[in-house]
Amino acid sequence: MYRLSSLIFFLLLAGNAWAQNPHGPDLKIDCKACHTSGSWKIDREQLSFNHDTVGFELEYRHNEIDCRECHTTLVFNEVESNCVSCHDDVHSMSVGDDCARCHTSKNWLVDKIPEIHEENGFPLVGAHFSLACVDCHDSETGLRWERLGNDCFNCHDDTYYSTTAPNHEASGFSTDCIQCHDPLSESWTGSGNFHFFFPLTDGHDIADCTACHKGSSYSDISPECISCHQSDYNNAQSVDHAGLNFSTDCTQCHGMGPGWSPANFDDHDGNFFPIYSGKHQGTWNTCTDCHLNVNDYSEFSCIICHDNQSELANDHDEVSGYTYSSDACYSCHPKGDE
Ligand code: HEC
Ligand code: HEC
Ligand code: HEC
Ligand code: HEC
Ligand code: HEC
Ligand code: HEC
Ligand code: HEC
Ligand code: HEC
Ligand code: HEC
Ligand code: HEC
Ligand code: HEC
Ligand code: HEC
Ligand code: HEC
Repeated sequence: MYRLSSLIFFLLLAGNAWAQNPHGPDLKIDCKACHTSGSWKIDREQLSFNHDTVGFELEYRHNEIDCRECHTTLVFNEVESNCVSCHDDVHSMSVGDDCARCHTSKNWLVDKIPEIHEENGFPLVGAHFSLACVDCHDSETGLRWERLGNDCFNCHDDTYYSTTAPNHEASGFSTDCIQCHDPLSESWTGSGNFHFFFPLTDGHDIADCTACHKGSSYSDISPECISCHQSDYNNAQSVDHAGLNFSTDCTQCHGMGPGWSPANFDDHDGNFFPIYSGKHQGTWNTCTDCHLNVNDYSEFSCIICHDNQSELANDHDEVSGYTYSSDACYSCHPKGDE
């Protein structure tokens, strides 16, 4: 019964095909690929036609709506596949016409705002992390994303001119903020922010910029310790740095602590006598505990601490050649252990 009626239907159809075909003369696809029963209404379940083959996938919302919503004339090849041909560009061409760069046909929400900003070289981090979109994108519609420019000064020109501590304009500071301000920071002030590339802490906590920046340009300066501290190296009183061939990379032994202390002379352990490791770790306070004469570090004393003569004599009563002198102690105990 079904076969017969559909046969009749298609015979009728064949006769009237071109009279009834609303799809225009270019349609190459068999009517049966889409139409199945007595009605011209489309039953999506029965469709053997696969839309993906026409070069425009129907996804999400597009896959739920009627064919006619897009193909209003029913002449299928009259539609275009770019999004703007069917959807209003609410952004007024401020982000171009490649809508798919940010949108899918799921809905118009965009869940990759952070990525978008990274791609633009302006990650929303630090002070910018928790701002509202309109704080920066202030078009009336709130949907136009005109170029703002990534340069700090584009948005912070007022900030610059209203500075007082220090007054940037009067100090002749550049308007390229990131020369001195960390773009990742939460604020314009505070440690780890200004001058982050060469922290001004401890011994370098100096308000007077000209203590270091002596030339006319801020760039005309080296970060190498020795470039500013050559005379300190040459004149170091307690240890003859040059004589001992100490490195001019001061950071090997020094931090920025005032008075160049602490100084961690780790090589002492391997080269001379273990003081940062072994039995004497933590037993001394200053180098002069052993080196009583700062003018000659080859001199040292053990008995300044090991001063209980009778007990030591006791300890060594089985040891031949024992004498109570620092040189003797050192020659039998070169590592300060048994
Ligand atoms: C690729 C699928 C497809 C093919 C192939 C196809 N049609 Fe259609 N046809 C449709 C769709 C979709 C509609 C609109 C149905 C709806 O509104 O539910 C339609 C509607 C129609 C209508 C009704 C028009 C109206 O105004 O309601 C007729 C008549 C029709 N088609 C005839 C044909 C004939 C004849 C052929 C073969 C030459 C054909 N169609 C091939 C998809 C197709
Ligand atoms: C979201 C919109 C949309 C919906 C819904 C949609 N189409 Fe399309 N369709 C398109 C676009 C866009 C093209 C054109 C692709 C191209 O030419 O690059 C197209 C192309 C076609 C073509 C090929 C036309 C040709 O000759 O090149 C056919 C046939 C077609 N659609 C049938 C259908 C049928 C049947 C349905 C319903 C099941 C449907 N479409 C639903 C957007 C849609
Ligand atoms: C041929 C016309 C056509 C093309 C091309 C087209 N769409 Fe659509 N789209 C529609 C229609 C029709 C609807 C359903 C009605 C509506 O919501 O506007 C729709 C719905 C949507 C929706 C759902 C809107 C909502 O409120 O639920 C989104 C999102 C969408 N389209 C995005 C896109 C994107 C992105 C592109 C390009 C990749 C695109 N569309 C290309 C016709 C089209
Ligand atoms: C650079 C990314 C980007 C591009 C490209 C883009 N949009 Fe958007 N669009 C957005 C963002 C962001 C929103 C706001 C979404 C949100 O709040 O989640 C939006 C929102 C929308 C909305 C919803 C508006 C409303 O009132 O809520 C529509 C419609 C829309 N876009 C259409 C388009 C169309 C059409 C194109 C192509 C011409 C396009 N968009 C291109 C980023 C983009
Ligand atoms: C601190 C300022 C700031 C905030 C806050 C901000 N943006 Fe942006 N946005 C920018 C800058 C800078 C760009 C880079 C492009 C440019 O120069 O305009 C940009 C670019 C964009 C673009 C365009 C991307 C493109 O590729 O064309 C979109 C869309 C966008 N932002 C959406 C948003 C949305 C949505 C929010 C809120 C969730 C937001 N922005 C918050 C500064 C900001
Ligand atoms: C697209 C505009 C825009 C750009 C570009 C921009 N900012 Fe901002 N920034 C803002 C807005 C808006 C605020 C919040 C209002 C304010 O404090 O001025 C802000 C706040 C800040 C704050 C926090 C101020 C405070 O006192 O809380 C700092 C720090 C900051 N920005 C640094 C920078 C730096 C550094 C750059 C360059 C790498 C930069 N900004 C580029 C728009 C921008
Ligand atoms: C040559 C270095 C330098 C440059 C370039 C620079 N700053 Fe500063 N800025 C400083 C110093 C130094 C401070 C004081 C830091 C502190 O107190 O921790 C400071 C502090 C600030 C302060 C807080 C103090 C106040 O008076 O409000 C703001 C705001 C500020 N800068 C904004 C900017 C902006 C905006 C730019 C770029 C347009 C910029 N700065 C460029 C060196 C600079
Ligand atoms: C203790 C020494 C010292 C002090 C004090 C000091 N700076 Fe610097 N500054 C340096 C060094 C070293 C560099 C180079 C860092 C590098 O190249 O890695 C530098 C670099 C800079 C630069 C970057 C120049 C460029 O071309 O990249 C600016 C700007 C700057 N300083 C501003 C200041 C300002 C403003 C002050 C005073 C508030 C100041 N500095 C105080 C040592 C100092
Ligand atoms: C651009 C010049 C400059 C550079 C580079 C520099 N300093 Fe300084 N430093 C100074 C100035 C100026 C002072 C303060 C005056 C003084 O004590 O010589 C200072 C002070 C110090 C002090 C405190 C000295 C004391 O007597 O309290 C230490 C420690 C120090 N610097 C270590 C270093 C180390 C380590 C480096 C290399 C990582 C270095 N400095 C690089 C200019 C510089
Ligand atoms: C191999 C380790 C080492 C290196 C490298 C080194 N120092 Fe020292 N420095 C020391 C030790 C150890 C002391 C003595 C600390 C003490 O007395 O507590 C010292 C002390 C100093 C003192 C204080 C001396 C005094 O007069 O009392 C100055 C100044 C000094 N160093 C400058 C420098 C400078 C500048 C550099 C780099 C150019 C440098 N040092 C590199 C180990 C080193
Ligand atoms: C617990 C004792 C002890 C302490 C503390 C100590 N030293 Fe020594 N140091 C020695 C001994 C032992 C030698 C080996 C002497 C020898 O080989 O002539 C030595 C050797 C040296 C030498 C090589 C002397 C030379 O001319 O060969 C230097 C330089 C030196 N010490 C510096 C220091 C400095 C700087 C400190 C403090 C950071 C320090 N020492 C702390 C015991 C000590
Ligand atoms: C600043 C004081 C001080 C100086 C100087 C000193 N010592 Fe000691 N020494 C100690 C202390 C305290 C102990 C005990 C450590 C322990 O038992 O943990 C010790 C332990 C020893 C021991 C016994 C290790 C063991 O295994 O029990 C020997 C050996 C020794 N020292 C040798 C020397 C020699 C050699 C020198 C001179 C180069 C020297 N000491 C300089 C404080 C010092
Ligand atoms: C001729 C080599 C020699 C000389 C010199 C010498 N010692 Fe010893 N010392 C030894 C020997 C070997 C032992 C191990 C004795 C034992 O275990 O019975 C020892 C043991 C020790 C002990 C460990 C005692 C214990 O409680 O186990 C100390 C502390 C010590 N010596 C310190 C010194 C000091 C300080 C001097 C210099 C005044 C010194 N020694 C000189 C060879 C020497």
